[in-house]
Amino acid sequence: MKETIDIILNECLTELDNNPTQDEIQSVKVKFLGKNGRLTALLKGLKDLSPQEKPLVGQLVNLARERIEAKIAAVEEAVKQQKLKEKIESEYIDITADFTHGKRGALHPLSMVNKQLMEIFSDMGFVVKEGPEVETDYYNFQALNTPLDHPARDMQDTFYITESILLRTHTSPNQVRVMEQSRPPIKMICPGKCYRVDDDATHSPIFNQIEGLVVDKNVTLCDLKGTIEAFSKKFFSDSTKVRLRPSFFPFTEPSVEVDLTCSNCGGKGCRLCKGTGWLEVLGAGMVNPFVLDNCGIDSQIYSGFAFGFGIDRMTMIKYGISDIRLMYQNDIRFLQQIVG
Ligand code: PHE
Repeated sequence: MKETIDIILNECLTELDNNPTQDEIQSVKVKFLGKNGRLTALLKGLKDLSPQEKPLVGQLVNLARERIEAKIAAVEEAVKQQKLKEKIESEYIDITADFTHGKRGALHPLSMVNKQLMEIFSDMGFVVKEGPEVETDYYNFQALNTPLDHPARDMQDTFYITESILLRTHTSPNQVRVMEQSRPPIKMICPGKCYRVDDDATHSPIFNQIEGLVVDKNVTLCDLKGTIEAFSKKFFSDSTKVRLRPSFFPFTEPSVEVDLTCSNCGGKGCRLCKGTGWLEVLGAGMVNPFVLDNCGIDSQIYSGFAFGFGIDRMTMIKYGISDIRLMYQNDIRFLQQIVG
């Protein structure tokens, strides 16, 4: 009997020796220890043995069972460890990889300049606001003293979505939106995309503007000039001078066109300023009393100035870019040349 037990035991241990899979281990369990397993069969046969043999054989069978169970536990643990090892290997991330030769991204020139502009104006006490790009005719024109039949509408070639909804042609609607929502003193700046039916080297159908608005008691044209001058000195150079020329916008009175001394030649005259020494950079003026009153701000008590300029134009001047369309083509060879 002892021999039979040893044979079964050895057979079982051999089957467990060859790196069995979990399934193979399971079938070994069934084959030897299961209800109809070979070792179990021996136990069932105990009843036919003599009273002397019974305990002896019983003990041997139990010993064999313990050894098999210990072996199974060991191989199961080995399978588990192997699986864990494979998982760790498959999920391994080489954190030592050398990325120092990779290419670094950078901000788009327009984002870079926009950031600089926001910083300068924030330092000067302006609050940054935003408004919708899809606007109503009311905010884009009518509230800005430009009624439906006003000839000044011709200056702004508009993309209409419906008769009364359009893509904003400038950031000026935000003057109205801000004045409707807040009371003076107001000192805000509003950057954003604008759209016009226009496409050449200096005009893009999509472009970026910044609107500035200051409303308080006793605000004058001198404050406008001083503000633009302080800003220009910070953005271009300390020697930048400002010149105002009369102009017309329905929503400002008086209206001015603001020129800065050419940042390229310092005012001597060059190709960038077409020999004049001056660069035309923004439209501005004193907020028309009609617009103030229309927004519920008493024009007898308050006055204000507003200005609007192209971020694209500022970027082109600052970095000597001759074609605005380069800024919207995302050609990496162009973008790479402009770093902050
Ligand atoms: N919105 C005007 C334009 O786009 C510029 C402007 C802004 C003029 C604010 C006056 C005051 O041409």
